[in-house]
Amino acid sequence: MRKIIIGVLAAGLVSGMSVFAWQAIAADECCPKDDQTPPLDLIAATPIGGLHNPYNDDVAAIEEVGHKKYLSFSCNGCHGGGGGGGMCPPLTNDTFVYGADDDTLFRLIALGSDELQKLGYTRVKKEIVTGPMPQFGTIIKTSDDLWKVIAFIRVKNPSSVKHVSTPAQTPGQ
Ligand code: HEC
Repeated sequence: MRKIIIGVLAAGLVSGMSVFAWQAIAADECCPKDDQTPPLDLIAATPIGGLHNPYNDDVAAIEEVGHKKYLSFSCNGCHGGGGGGGMCPPLTNDTFVYGADDDTLFRLIALGSDELQKLGYTRVKKEIVTGPMPQFGTIIKTSDDLWKVIAFIRVKNPSSVKHVSTPAQTPGQ
């Protein structure tokens, strides 16, 4: 009897491990639409290079809602209403300070420049204006909101779309 119980326990452990491994693989396919996870939690759970915008297949459909969110988070105060720049770098040109891929932009907007640099990121390109980007990871409550803002940036910057999955740098990888 005792042997059977131990056997069942061992089988449970093994199947538990395979579920765990499966979850790790699923996490690589990040990220889902409508994700309510706070951006900073998603960053903590996802290895560098693993964040992908679930709205990339049709960013035009997200433009309006993404623009509203962009304005509601006051991104326009620094980057201009259409992302064309102002006292801070334009989001519409071909220069991306840390890289133009989804993973880097998500981390930059959520963590801000100072935290990003602490992780080992450096300015690989020089913009018209150089300065720190504040941290928005607590102001933007859900990852879904942040992905929609990034989708809006893609609409405003179509030539950046080819870089969505190619980070200019992957510190620590
Ligand atoms: C207080 C001003 C300020 C606000 C508000 C602000 N940003 Fe920024 N942003 C900056 C600065 C300055 C940089 C350049 C960062 C650097 O060089 O480290 C930057 C960089 C960026 C970049 C990278 C641009 C590039 O050329 O590489 C993106 C994308 C971006 N911001 C998006 C946003 C979004 C989205 C919001 C709103 C959620 C926002 N920013 C709000 C100041 C701001």
